[in-house]
Amino acid sequence: MNAPVRTAILKRQAALPADPAALKQRARELLARHNAVLVAHYYVDGELQDLALETGGCVADSLEMARFGRDHPARTLVVAGVRFMGETAKILSPEKRVLMPDLEATCSLDLGCPAEPFASFCDAHPDRTVVVYANTSAAVKARADWMVTSSCAVPIVAHLQERGEKVLWAPDRHLGRYVQQQTGADMLLWDATCVVHDEFKGIELELMRREHPRAKVLVHPESPDGVIRQADLVGSTTQLLRAVTEMDADEFIVATDAGLFHRMRQLAPGKTLLEAPTAGTSATCKACAHCPWMAMNDVEKLIHCLSEQGAPIELNADVIRKARTCIERMLDFVAAHPLATKAPASGFVPHLGTA
Ligand code: 13P
Ligand code: SF4
Repeated sequence: MNAPVRTAILKRQAALPADPAALKQRARELLARHNAVLVAHYYVDGELQDLALETGGCVADSLEMARFGRDHPARTLVVAGVRFMGETAKILSPEKRVLMPDLEATCSLDLGCPAEPFASFCDAHPDRTVVVYANTSAAVKARADWMVTSSCAVPIVAHLQERGEKVLWAPDRHLGRYVQQQTGADMLLWDATCVVHDEFKGIELELMRREHPRAKVLVHPESPDGVIRQADLVGSTTQLLRAVTEMDADEFIVATDAGLFHRMRQLAPGKTLLEAPTAGTSATCKACAHCPWMAMNDVEKLIHCLSEQGAPIELNADVIRKARTCIERMLDFVAAHPLATKAPASGFVPHLGTA
């Protein structure tokens, strides 16, 4: 076969749509060859979630991803999620190689809390204990006393409140306000939001509830107050998933990223799941309730990062050392209080009120 013909055939093959089953098989082989384990978040593509579970990895919330990556013996962790999740894995396991399908996948909360202004904010309030959400850069964590995730923010701040400590909180103002309401703690809040959860609408949710009076309302605490106030349960992604499987109800309105529905449908196949509204009937456009950065992860990119041995997460050793303290404090707390993350602090509460 002459060279131009061979080039034409190769080009045509490259243009053919990839067979999903073949791609998954290739990904499985590469994970095994590189002694790598896939640590995925519930918001990434369903195919990646399935692949993680089929290959001995995990699909989890931020807290469980951090614990799983730290405790797993694999030399390489492939974190399918957003940048802060990969950084947390690296901070907890600096000796491991941490890869991500797309290193550009970030988070609006991380972007909304740059390290320098945050450090100035902390400097201006030296009397406060600095508590940061997991959705922050390693440099921001390096300045914090505690890191928390949505599954343990309330019990940890309640614990600080009992010790008489005043809190400086960053970056999610909705989660910060929710934690403040639940604990009564003295909290000074940074002002950033999640581009996905901030779009859920309280008034539209009220209308939807009237149409579905038997539906239970499940809300991630990054949502606005008017949405949280209508919740039967407020919790992390894992806690919302558990509620769908355990609550005595057939219908749920869910206010979180639509990626979680994949696992919810697998674990509670008979139940009806409705997406909480992101816009009014008069609106010309509706937010899709799917994180644009989580959506950057797919099986092809996973293959690419493993086969090319894509660029691993690299962090300055001093930043790792400083950031590790606040993460380990959280992990020690949840290990010592296992019930604290089993159910949200609010429990299966009745509606708190209307929007
Ligand atoms: P979870 O820790 O509840 O999974 O939340 C992470 C996140 O980014 C939600 O938007
Ligand atoms: Fe960040 Fe929101 Fe995306 Fe979660 S869903 S990673 S908080 S932008």
